[in-house]
Amino acid sequence: MAASSVAGSAIAALKSDGFSAHSGNLRVAHIHHCSPITGQLRSIQLRHSRISLYGSRSSFASSGVKAQAATVEQASIEVTKTVEGPVVVVTGASRGIGRAIAMSLGKAGCKVLVNYARSSKEAEEVCKEIEACGGQALTFGGDVSKEADVDSMIKTAVDAWGTVDILINNAGITRDALLMRMKTPQWKEVIDLNLTGVYLCTRAAAKIMMKKKKGRIINIASVVGLVGNVGQANYSAAKAGVIGLTKTVAKEYASRNINVNAVAPGFIASDMTAKLGEDIEKKILGTIPLGRYGQPEEIAGLVEFLALNPAASYITGQVLTIDGGMVM
Ligand SMILES: NC(=O)c1ccc[n+]([C@@H]2O[C@H](COP(=O)([O-])OP(=O)(O)OC[C@H]3O[C@@H](n4cnc5c(N)ncnc54)[C@H](OP(=O)(O)O)[C@@H]3O)[C@@H](O)[C@H]2O)c1
Repeated sequence: MAASSVAGSAIAALKSDGFSAHSGNLRVAHIHHCSPITGQLRSIQLRHSRISLYGSRSSFASSGVKAQAATVEQASIEVTKTVEGPVVVVTGASRGIGRAIAMSLGKAGCKVLVNYARSSKEAEEVCKEIEACGGQALTFGGDVSKEADVDSMIKTAVDAWGTVDILINNAGITRDALLMRMKTPQWKEVIDLNLTGVYLCTRAAAKIMMKKKKGRIINIASVVGLVGNVGQANYSAAKAGVIGLTKTVAKEYASRNINVNAVAPGFIASDMTAKLGEDIEKKILGTIPLGRYGQPEEIAGLVEFLALNPAASYITGQVLTIDGGMVM
């Protein structure tokens, strides 16, 4: 599909008016919270019975919200400002790992731009689920290997929510073949999306983050980028490139308070691995000490930690493997 047709159809659809809404049937509680993103103590509006912000995972049962609010009010904390959840762009968020990341960050109170290339229905579903948890999300159809689409995607997030605080470079494809059989288009397609796409998104988002002197970028690499894999010369080269890019950008932007890390999953249950077939799966499982594929939600948990947790403020330029012990 032509990039312009994907992005140009203006698939950005704002899904919710979110945290700043004051509609009558919204349950709104004001609490103070120290944001790792802003580093400031501010008030937060909770508009749903189960919501957590910045990884704190505070859950509020429906009746518990009022109790929490009352406790906070009794403590006479000044409630003066409204905190907006961090704005996150997740590429390739319609399915698999990206979907799990978008869901996890949406549930944690972020405003999530859900990017996809073709799966508009699935992307809409992700937005609906985030909304159902009280979050905000919008979809953006676009090919992140194309500069114009990337610029338009970042602009969409900024137009909707004013900024980009967190970028998750997740979109990726495989076009596997042994080197001797690999065609140049197979090589290029993978490099264009899995490496150049990460460069384009990072450059566009970092421009915004550096003005605010804060931000977090998390690149989904792969253990294959560390150790190589038969049949994946294109993919492993791209992922190794992402690791080099991660470290360089971490060094260049550290003075701007932008943390850049890579997560390197092993084999994770998704459409990408489903097409490997049972025989290959059996062989792969034999190489994983924990004896199973990982789940997208397990990757999402690590990404959420890196994106939102205050403890991750001092982590930058790292590659965190999450692979059931495959590479150690
Ligand atoms: N699964 C694993 O075992 C594994 C292991 C290590 C690393 N990873 C990495 O993790 C990331 C996600 O993998 P996954 O297994 O979740 O893959 P997946 O299930 O195949 O999902 C891929 C996602 O990328 C999107 N996408 C594809 N081409 C795109 C493009 N040109 N522009 C924007 N988005 C595009 C897809 O959107 P559409 O639905 O619209 O096509 C989809 O949302 C990838 O970077 C992959 O390399 C995966």
